[in-house]
Amino acid sequence: MKFLLLATTLTLTLGAQAQRPVYLDETKPVEQRVEDALKRMTLDEKIAVIHAQSKFSSAGVKRLGFTDFWTDDGPHGVRPDVLWDEWEQAGQTNDSCVAFPALTCLAATWNPTMARLYGHSLGEEALYRGKDMILGPGVNIYRTPLGGRNFEYMGEDPYLAGRMVVPYVQGLQANGVAACVKHYALNNDEEYRHQVNVVVSDRALHEIYLPAFKAAVIEGKVWGIMGAYNLYKDQHNCHNAILLNQILKRDWAFDGVVVSDWGGCHDTDQAVRNGLDMEFGTWTDGLTMGKTNAYSSYYLADAYKRAIREGRYTERELDDKVRRVLRLFYRTTMNRQRPIGFLCSEAHYDAARKIGNEGIVLLKNRQNVLPIDTLTARNILVVGENAVKMMTVGGGSSSLKVQRELSPLDGLRATLAPRGVNIVWERGYVGDTNGSFNGVTSGQDLSESRTPDRLVADAVSKARKADYVVFFGGLNKSDYQDCEGHDRKEYGLPYGQDRLIEALAKANRNLIVVNISGNAVAMPWADRVNAIVQGWYLGSETGHCLADVLTGRVNPSGKLPFTWPRTLDDVPAHRLGTYPGTWRPDHKIIDEEYKEGLYVGYRGVDRYKTRPLFAFGHGLSYTSFRISNLRVDKTTMTHDGKLTFTVNVANTGKREGAEVIQLYISDLQSSLPRPVKELKAFMKVSLRPGESRDVTLTIDNAALSFYDDSRGVWTSEPGDFEALVGNTSDKPNLKVRFKLTDGLH
Ligand code: BGC
Repeated sequence: MKFLLLATTLTLTLGAQAQRPVYLDETKPVEQRVEDALKRMTLDEKIAVIHAQSKFSSAGVKRLGFTDFWTDDGPHGVRPDVLWDEWEQAGQTNDSCVAFPALTCLAATWNPTMARLYGHSLGEEALYRGKDMILGPGVNIYRTPLGGRNFEYMGEDPYLAGRMVVPYVQGLQANGVAACVKHYALNNDEEYRHQVNVVVSDRALHEIYLPAFKAAVIEGKVWGIMGAYNLYKDQHNCHNAILLNQILKRDWAFDGVVVSDWGGCHDTDQAVRNGLDMEFGTWTDGLTMGKTNAYSSYYLADAYKRAIREGRYTERELDDKVRRVLRLFYRTTMNRQRPIGFLCSEAHYDAARKIGNEGIVLLKNRQNVLPIDTLTARNILVVGENAVKMMTVGGGSSSLKVQRELSPLDGLRATLAPRGVNIVWERGYVGDTNGSFNGVTSGQDLSESRTPDRLVADAVSKARKADYVVFFGGLNKSDYQDCEGHDRKEYGLPYGQDRLIEALAKANRNLIVVNISGNAVAMPWADRVNAIVQGWYLGSETGHCLADVLTGRVNPSGKLPFTWPRTLDDVPAHRLGTYPGTWRPDHKIIDEEYKEGLYVGYRGVDRYKTRPLFAFGHGLSYTSFRISNLRVDKTTMTHDGKLTFTVNVANTGKREGAEVIQLYISDLQSSLPRPVKELKAFMKVSLRPGESRDVTLTIDNAALSFYDDSRGVWTSEPGDFEALVGNTSDKPNLKVRFKLTDGLH
């Protein structure tokens, strides 16, 4: 009897297993499951998964048990839900999030561990919100400080951006949430972003604009790439044969999906043949315009189906797209091991604070004005709209609805009021009083009745009596500031802030200027201000992060991820008159030729011998460091070998602190012109007072290579090289030479 029962159970179990189709069998390799699912899908089902069905979702395959697929912005937190087919808020009560610091700040940490923490924490928020793909991070190179979306990107250097994007992607995807690295490629400014045709040399494309994307694909193994709005070689980048078919899919062997930017797809034939896999946002300008429920008239919907039925295409291209989408499903929605995630957990706030603390950059600190001496200070005057204005609302698609956001003023009060410090706020200037974006409102009343002169006078009279004056100004996320869709109109600070700062500097020598922005700004008053801090957009924990650094609870260790020029004329793109480009006679396309080629950022500083206000890689600390004794393990290297550099770093001051050791390579003999030096390794080290440590940095052939455009390959040439080591790009004072004995051709 017992035996009989056992036999029946066994048969049932075996029977169930035998019936389970391969595509649902988790013991089978994913590629086999993909092929099995593909075989079972009808033409309608295949077409349905390659385009949107709502503003942010695409269909699964209900009959086979594949659920709908949900995307969401990105990249600083999970965007609140909009209606199914409208951009208006859905009005959910469970879609408030933690806002993490903007990606410029993340890049300024120069700490890949922070990028991993960022991706991981954001992934948990996304999971809880039911999102399968985060539309980010962005790694477009910072080419001009006018760029409206620079705050969403990781700075001017391809190597730094590459080191930071990989762990962000890995952290996010470890949770079973896809990253969608954007905007591929050459979307380096916002003005006319749908019409700009970028003209760029192959060398600049491969050496400057593509490496961070390549790192995300090859090392980060990213599951999604978003095509950019602009054009390259007269073809929109969401269906660009060279960028997508040749470089991304053939050369880099990308096996994920190419997602169009919202409204970035323009043509069925190009979308079919040139590598687009999922079409989103068509009939919109990415924001508001739109036809209602137009999903079946998308370029990859009915028009494509009809063309297949009429025999204009076989299903070859379609199957390639669907395979990629199915692979994406297995990685995300069909991953049964996916955790549930958390929303607004304390761990996420802690992560946001930690990242913000590490990214704030101390640009200048004459006479050690900072940190604020909390033992002697009794009266602090805080000035500026940015001390109170919520900055998580605005900026375009990265705008968020946060559970909480602590302002700089409240952060300082929370830290200093318990110590008996009296803090008073004066507005000083009026920027933008509108606190709403896409239906999310900050609820702040920023109206003001005083005249600009009165505002300055009121601030100055109080500044005279204060122990410290802390000014929070800069940009904000309103149109033509740090905001998607347009670039800034000028390099100078808006809203008359220069005049105010000059007046405050005269009134009080303990003036601390905290610039809130994602971009460099002109600082004509820099010589007259003793302390300058770059405060970025720090998200939910803004107030805590800034108070931590200003009061010395945290010793600043951020380094600029971009060059801070004195004037716009010092920026190669502007000096050469390349921005924003030249309209063609039909006024449909504007050609923007990147005439500066490789010489972007510090590469341009070296080339044109300009003197930036603050150099790429610059950032001060409340302690001091000595970097000495640079050594290299060998003086020759072969193309398949490695070199290890060792340098001693000592904390010679009185506080614990962290320093970023930066290694630049200079090619001393080359058949093609090369930048004077390029960042090829870095490491952040934390040291207690008096502590010293040897830091090792290793490079391989990639650090010596350049793109040979005559042959379309990366190559290195035998000859002499120099490694330059330091803690900023303008003074890498330690040098050591070595030789590459055989190049890679
Ligand atoms: C932006 C993308 C964003 C998408 C969806 C577009 O306008 O360029 O970065 O992910 O909208 O909101």
